[in-house]
Amino acid sequence: MLSSGLTIGAEKLKKTAKTTKTSILLVEDEKDQRALIKAILEAESYQVTEVETAEDAIEKLRVDNFEIVISDWKLPGLNGDELLAEIRENHPQTGFILITAHSDASHAISIIRAGADDYLPKPFDRASLLFTVSKLVYTRQIENENKELKTQSKHRNKLLDMIGNSSAMNRLFLRIEKTAPTNATILITGESGTGKELAARAIHQLSSRKEKLFLPVNCAAIPESLAESELFGAEKGAYTGSNKNRVGKLEAASEGTIFLDEIGELPLILQSKLLRFLQEGTITRVGSNQEISLDVRVVTATNRDLLEEVKQGNFREDLFYRLNVIPVTIPPLRNRQDDLLPLIKHFITIFTEEHGVGEKQLSSAALKYLLAYSWPGNVRQLRNSIERLVLLSYEDVISLQDVEELELHQRGSNKDYVLPSQGISWESHEKDCLLQALSHCNNNRTQAAKLLGLSYKAFLYRLEKHNIN
Ligand SMILES: Nc1ncnc2c1ncn2[C@@H]1O[C@H](COP(=O)(O)OP(=O)(O)OP(=O)(O)O)[C@@H](O)[C@H]1O
Ligand SMILES: [Mg+2]
Repeated sequence: MLSSGLTIGAEKLKKTAKTTKTSILLVEDEKDQRALIKAILEAESYQVTEVETAEDAIEKLRVDNFEIVISDWKLPGLNGDELLAEIRENHPQTGFILITAHSDASHAISIIRAGADDYLPKPFDRASLLFTVSKLVYTRQIENENKELKTQSKHRNKLLDMIGNSSAMNRLFLRIEKTAPTNATILITGESGTGKELAARAIHQLSSRKEKLFLPVNCAAIPESLAESELFGAEKGAYTGSNKNRVGKLEAASEGTIFLDEIGELPLILQSKLLRFLQEGTITRVGSNQEISLDVRVVTATNRDLLEEVKQGNFREDLFYRLNVIPVTIPPLRNRQDDLLPLIKHFITIFTEEHGVGEKQLSSAALKYLLAYSWPGNVRQLRNSIERLVLLSYEDVISLQDVEELELHQRGSNKDYVLPSQGISWESHEKDCLLQALSHCNNNRTQAAKLLGLSYKAFLYRLEKHNIN
């Protein structure tokens, strides 16, 4: 078992080494020995540079990058130990294998302590040379990948102004970083308040257009009769009373990015004009036949299900596909629990600074409540709530009572319920609802939470509050 395991390991190591074309600096004063080692390594596709002395090696390392140095211990001038010290001092990333005639353990330990990655006792055969080298290549590769992951995950807590720690946001950050520098059309979807505009700004900021204009246009806010001239401009005299040429938003955003928000609201007739711009790169102003070429990046957003709009005949299918070249979906906040704490901390920091109030902290009960809430209004609602808490709490510590005063409602919870004119006792009403939901669902808590429109955490929080087991 053991030997087959080792064989697989060696094969894997060999493959790794072969595909990466590792550059090796070989330091060996004996000509025949040097030629032999070089030949063995080159036969395995390593790139080998040879030198005779440690002094030559130091010189070479100054001008070229080597991933690994393999050095004999006994050399004419500086010996292998001294070369190792120099390398650890000036090239800490370089791998180091020492070839030594002393095969005793204490020397091996002292070499490793001095910073060598491995050692090869003389005499060695081809297989052990290759195994030692490929093992080092492999571990270095893993180390590099780990380092990359670490810097990535540090970086991923934030992308410009976007805070997010959840795996969904990490994936989103990666997608934005990858596609922002291109000219691809991006369609951002997500519920209201999830951060669609923030994502569009990040895309612009991370593109080569960042010095130019980022122009947000809310398609739902333009009256239909004016929409065409707003977006595409109008020639003098195109309308009664228009005595000047009018530059449209697309022209105004020239060389920059236009962010067409609520794109689902764009009237059908303008949808074909936008499609034409996306396909041909040209527009015509209202009242003109002259085509104007424009270079504008188009980023759009919607909180509607655009495909459904396509099915309903409200949105052009060809335009949908043209806009949706890169889809970016921002999940609702309730589905990214890991973002809550960093967002809460972030908003407390920015609002205490902005309003010049002293440091604020959340009591653990207050925090628990905020973490358990489902935030139907997403990040916008969270942001507004934290701003209010920062401004309205009297103490340095924001209490549960402060949070309760926000009167955070679940989405739709007060639609079907008519409050009796004499009022109710909220606490006993809440307890009653919890018990009834549990009884309806045979004590299945997940289902009972759903029945009440609560997140599972929010439900458990309330069970605990009312001491219901
Ligand atoms: N990940 C985030 N990090 C920090 N702030 C955020 C984040 N997401 C959203 N916000 C903030 O929440 C608020 C709402 O975000 P934004 O306006 O981008 O949402 P939206 O999806 O465009 O909403 P709507 O559909 O209602 O237009 C903004 O103040 C924004 O700065
Ligand atoms: Mg928006």
